[in-house]
Amino acid sequence: GEVDKIRASLLEWYDENRRDLPWRRISDGEDNVGIEEKETRAYAVWVSEVMLQQTRVQTVIDYFNRWMEKWPTIHHLAQATLEEVNEMWAGLGYYRRARFLLEGAKTIVDGGGEFPKTASSLQKVKGIGKYTAGAISSIAFKEAVPVVDGNVVRVLTRLKAISANPKDSTTVKMIWKLARQLVDPSRPGDFNQAIMELGATVCNTSGPRCSTCALSLNCQALSLSTYHKSVQVTDY
Ligand code: ADE
Repeated sequence: GEVDKIRASLLEWYDENRRDLPWRRISDGEDNVGIEEKETRAYAVWVSEVMLQQTRVQTVIDYFNRWMEKWPTIHHLAQATLEEVNEMWAGLGYYRRARFLLEGAKTIVDGGGEFPKTASSLQKVKGIGKYTAGAISSIAFKEAVPVVDGNVVRVLTRLKAISANPKDSTTVKMIWKLARQLVDPSRPGDFNQAIMELGATVCNTSGPRCSTCALSLNCQALSLSTYHKSVQVTDY
């Protein structure tokens, strides 16, 4: 059906076009690795996703590499001081994010060290919200949960020609529900990263490149704009 086509097109596009990013080098790989390796992947996803909130990918790369060199696991981070963490964060802004990472690492390590592996248990860690919890559990632990950020909101409102205000909490709830129905249960982390990446690079705000978009055949905003010339995909 329609959902299968959307999943297949998006994942095929991602396999061909994914950017090679340092956190993906850590989080991508075989499923049959030990728990420690999975927790290291989860930690890398956590650090990268927190850095990516409000900061561009190009800027994050160097910060991420320096951070992981200094604190390669959550156990290393839990030994750090707030001063060290703030120094490492200098230039990224929103220093609260760095403090939450440190406090979260201490909470997990001091609590016995087992990394929470589901989105709902991750959300109990201070500073980990719905988005970060979904990113960590889907990418590192393959839990079939959605993630919704600004990119996902844009892609899905266009895909389904939703004209409601995307800043409205009702609309955002609707998008989370839609994303939950769409996420591919066999490759949830790749699916989530694919839709974010499509929103950042193809289905963007200024000039969406619909002619090369993997979802153009399924896109309701695009078909509306084809039939009613006054409607443009940029209106979504
Ligand atoms: N934006 C934020 N996190 C991302 C990810 N993991 N992949 C692509 N774009 C992102």
